[in-house]
Amino acid sequence: MHLLITGGAGFIGTNFIRFVRRNRPGWKVTNLDVLSYSGNLENLRDLESDPRYTFVKGDICDAATVGPLVEKADGVIHMAAESHVDRSILDSRPFVVSNTLGTQTMLDACRRARRGDKPWPGRMVYVSTDEVYGSLPLERPEIRFREDMPLEPNSPYASSKAGGDLLVRAYFHTFGQNVVTTRCSNNFGPYQFPEKVIPLFVTNLLEGKQVPLYGDGKNVRDWIHVDDHAEAVLTVLERGQAGEVYNIGGNNERSNLELTHTILKLMGKGTESIRYVQDRLGHDRRYAIDGSKIERELGWKPTRSSWPEALEATIDWYRTNTEWWNRVKSGQYREYYDKQYGSR
Ligand SMILES: NC(=O)c1ccc[n+]([C@@H]2O[C@H](COP(=O)([O-])OP(=O)(O)OC[C@H]3O[C@@H](n4cnc5c(N)ncnc54)[C@H](O)[C@@H]3O)[C@@H](O)[C@H]2O)c1
Repeated sequence: MHLLITGGAGFIGTNFIRFVRRNRPGWKVTNLDVLSYSGNLENLRDLESDPRYTFVKGDICDAATVGPLVEKADGVIHMAAESHVDRSILDSRPFVVSNTLGTQTMLDACRRARRGDKPWPGRMVYVSTDEVYGSLPLERPEIRFREDMPLEPNSPYASSKAGGDLLVRAYFHTFGQNVVTTRCSNNFGPYQFPEKVIPLFVTNLLEGKQVPLYGDGKNVRDWIHVDDHAEAVLTVLERGQAGEVYNIGGNNERSNLELTHTILKLMGKGTESIRYVQDRLGHDRRYAIDGSKIERELGWKPTRSSWPEALEATIDWYRTNTEWWNRVKSGQYREYYDKQYGSR
């Protein structure tokens, strides 16, 4: 098996490639990444000497780059994207370009690719997000996102990802293409860019700073360990049904306030470390995943996402890898952090 992974130098891509290395050691992996601000080659430095691993710097929107790479691969995991909601509020254009147009370019590359005189025999898994469903009410905890719910994305990020979901659906119906979509909840784990809430809070506390908590802190997310996500995507690649959508969740719903208090407790800090800041514009209240379809049809459920153990292990990773996040958080990003989250 030769897998083409897009966005492999980002948080989930890095962990996914490492997961494939550990669990499918014979597979070849090509990582196509444009190395935007969140792509970091340092994450996979130790794989560079591995003859079964190849890195290609390139843009998923560039058909001339993508086409030959798809043709050489047996399958594609498409996860390259602009991924941060706050940035999509500041400027949504790169999101539409990479997330929607980039997905269209990937789909066309798969459609046009040939193996000899036959169509390309591979499958593309599109790694989408639960945010495409919109927001659930806090008052109705029994409701969770199901795959047959309408897409009601609220942020420019979620809308640009939903554009990808709709194109994947259209390419299945129009061309009978072998495509599958996954919609996962909030990931946590090593190598996450420290603009996202868990690494931002943990590294701020390690720097002796406060943590900026949005609004009243009651927004709820379902937290999944990135290795659970990786295993689920691999399961969908190998056993999923073409044209289907599979939700992936951690069975781990927490409010931001609960998340913050747990991090503070695990790091020996008090509530004086919390700084309440103005809420994110259009902040979705609650995301919650009904993961029964993937469990029923493919026999997969999360096993690595239980708290506080998985969260504690993640905090330990950032504690141990200070150099990694110091480099990421310093220099060109400092200005962004200070503007977005304040410098305290
Ligand atoms: N982080 C989460 O909690 C989460 C949850 C569900 C789904 N997802 C999805 O998973 C995927 C990966 O998310 P992440 O958190 O690892 O993001 P990330 O920002 O850490 O990584 C994204 C990677 O994509 C690359 N990239 C961006 N635009 C590109 C382009 N035009 N061409 C080639 N490469 C490009 C970046 O350089 C980066 O390496 C995204 O598609 C995201 O929507 C993320």
